[in-house]
Amino acid sequence: MSLILLLPAGVLCAAHPEAARGSGGAVASAAPAATEAGLEVLRAGGNAADAAVATALALAVVRPRAGNLGGGGFAVTRFDDEVRTLDFRETAPAEATRDMYLDEQGEPRPGASLIGPLAAGVPGSPAGLYELHKELGRLPWAEVVAPAIRLARDGFTVDRRLASGTKKYADLLGRFPETAAVWLPGGQPPKAGSSMHLPVLAATLEAYAERGVPAITEGPIAAAVELASRRHGGVLRAADLAAYRPVWREPVRFEAFGWQVASMPLPSSGGIILGQTCGLLERLEWAKFSRFGADRFHLLIEAWRRAYADRVLLGDPRTSDASAAQLLAGEWLDLRAGRIRLAKATPSDRVRTWSRDFEEESPETTHLSVMDSDGNAVAITTTLNGTFGCGLLVPGAGFLLNNEMDDFETAPGQPNFYGLIQGEANSVGPGKRMLSSMTPTIAWRGKEVIVIGSPGGSKIPTATSQVLLNLIVDGDELQAAVDRARIHHQWMPDLVYTEAHALSPETAKALERRGHELRPTSGVGEVHSVRGEIGGEMQAAQDPRGPGTAGIVHPAVD
Ligand code: DON
Repeated sequence: MSLILLLPAGVLCAAHPEAARGSGGAVASAAPAATEAGLEVLRAGGNAADAAVATALALAVVRPRAGNLGGGGFAVTRFDDEVRTLDFRETAPAEATRDMYLDEQGEPRPGASLIGPLAAGVPGSPAGLYELHKELGRLPWAEVVAPAIRLARDGFTVDRRLASGTKKYADLLGRFPETAAVWLPGGQPPKAGSSMHLPVLAATLEAYAERGVPAITEGPIAAAVELASRRHGGVLRAADLAAYRPVWREPVRFEAFGWQVASMPLPSSGGIILGQTCGLLERLEWAKFSRFGADRFHLLIEAWRRAYADRVLLGDPRTSDASAAQLLAGEWLDLRAGRIRLAKATPSDRVRTWSRDFEEESPETTHLSVMDSDGNAVAITTTLNGTFGCGLLVPGAGFLLNNEMDDFETAPGQPNFYGLIQGEANSVGPGKRMLSSMTPTIAWRGKEVIVIGSPGGSKIPTATSQVLLNLIVDGDELQAAVDRARIHHQWMPDLVYTEAHALSPETAKALERRGHELRPTSGVGEVHSVRGEIGGEMQAAQDPRGPGTAGIVHPAVD
């Protein structure tokens, strides 16, 4: 029961205000059974990569709306001093075409990029999670997959969020008899407290544990994906699965407020938005303004407005119209910062995007964070995109397919599900990766390390940046930083979304006077974070906005 205690503006404390503390490793994720899977693997001598993969695979069982084998994601890792990122984002199938979501008149076909297998990109998670373990893990692969197999085969308890999610999305799940057979047993969503068994998914995971990636991307399971896709008008084929490869990429790196930060590069916009936000705020001397006053919020909104405007240029690194180096260049940030006025909001339609000559005007995902006792860190954000992805569960495989194709620009000027306006660089093309906002991030200063990230579609970079700023600028305790109410702005629509009590009435009025239009929102992201000192104490925090949990391994006890 999440009892919320309201304090002055900017502060939101939940019934679990204490972060878990200890020194044997830390895990924070969106589901208790998944956090436990990660802790189990740490206790068995696994490192952060082993625990992160075990947690992600457990989420693929107990959080089917987001956790996934039929989706994709990103990981940021820091082992010793080496920081790397793994891109296992979905790709457009080989038969995808730029106009696949338009009708004969060239108009967008409603729902085509969101519902059913035509909305599905080629899943990246099976190869991605395997690769992460192969490169950095310590325990045998089968031991890392074992907790997920157990949950799927022996069953798990349906929590309130899963029960309400399946109820709310019963229409989507009911459209596909294959999905309904599993997720609407007897025609009804499962009840909270009931026990759920997923034997087909358990068999898929067992094959994956024994034979690795080909068990899913080749043979009967890949054939089942193609069959289900063809039956419902999709273009996803077995050959697409077999051809998929994850990619290790150089992180987006920047320094902010005395901390080194590494986050996800393209095909995610997340690291760039985070870097631009921090770069602009440093230039505007943000830290010196009073913490809950209008000036700070105003400058944060103005920074995001500009960072999201530049997002329009971004896409798959092969087709992007701008790079992280260009958008994080000191000269560009200087120019941008110089045009932010403290007294007045800049209307979004007057903020132009980056251009080579710098000519400017005068809106389902899950994130987990892990650290082991050596200080190695892994941040993973994975997604199916929408809740329960495209709604189609592949019979014979037991997992749902994503609807990530909607993250492309599916029609000129057409905002995606999260209201993000996209550009030409992010148009649909075979093999292309669709632009993301996911922001798995690791920040460090000396021996101190923060592992952070969030779900939330377009709100991921703003949720992540606010909690990071709470930590590195204002020195919040980890749990307080996560609990604190948040706001959001994404350039277009030109609105400031505010969680309850994020702004005091006076601050809200002051922002309106400067030209900001405020709109209440129920939640900005769900941040799962761990932090710690290498060789010292670690903390893990859960976000009171969701049912997630955080846990610590205590070496003396375990
Ligand atoms: O990659 C992206 O940016 C989106 N597909 C993320 C979707 C998401 O966060 C949904 N969950 N809350």
